[in-house]
Amino acid sequence: MLTRKAIIAGNWKMFKTVPEALTFVHGFRKTAVGLDHVEAVLCPPFTALALMSESLCGSGISLGAQDVFWEDKGAFTGEVSPVMLKDAGCSYVIVGHSERRQYFGDTDEKVNRKVIAVLSHALTPIMCVGETLEERESGVTKKVVRTQTTAGMAGLAPEQAAGMVIAYEPVWAIGTGRTASDEDAQEVIAYIRSIVQEMFGAEAAGQVRILYGGSVKPENTAGLMSKVDIDGALVGGASLEVESFAEIIRVTSETKG
Ligand code: 13P
Repeated sequence: MLTRKAIIAGNWKMFKTVPEALTFVHGFRKTAVGLDHVEAVLCPPFTALALMSESLCGSGISLGAQDVFWEDKGAFTGEVSPVMLKDAGCSYVIVGHSERRQYFGDTDEKVNRKVIAVLSHALTPIMCVGETLEERESGVTKKVVRTQTTAGMAGLAPEQAAGMVIAYEPVWAIGTGRTASDEDAQEVIAYIRSIVQEMFGAEAAGQVRILYGGSVKPENTAGLMSKVDIDGALVGGASLEVESFAEIIRVTSETKG
């Protein structure tokens, strides 16, 4: 039997001021249904974390950050540590998003350092992997996700791997309106699970939660969530409006619940 609880995480990227974030939370707390079966995570910009944490209190909705640096503290201008994220009320941290890899120099090695740092502070990483359009078209999707997954999870204990969240986000599906087909997403996600099994054993592979991300909308949620290895979604654009994000959660709860 499936014991993995679904997660729907909203990655707000560089959107929403503090007042806008608090208005969202106010509306979302009234609108969201299905939260018994689905864990909802909101990942706002750093500036909104602390006040959102207060306004989410008692809601059962979790808070996540969009990135982290691996040191606890020090002379690292502009960076934010896992200790600080915990202090601000986070329980999740997105690591290795393709936008970080593309624009800010996150390599597999840096992603691995961040994953280790996040886990060592009892936070849960949401580690992103995924191929570019060029890579998909030249038939190397599995090779790319294998490299990113094995490098990103290097050196972890099986229990740490089991508690992680991985998000498969094909870069060509992000913000483009082009989603991977349900079957393609299932195939790559099952493949990622098999890599976790090779590295950490069957128990970890059975427990690790693997999400799909890339143009997830209310209309395509049921198809994706009906797939056995897809444990939820990492949602960008559609997480910015209360109605669409709440609807994705409701549909997921209905499909997985
Ligand atoms: P979109 O849902 O806007 O395609 O973004 C996906 C994403 O990058 C989530 O991390």
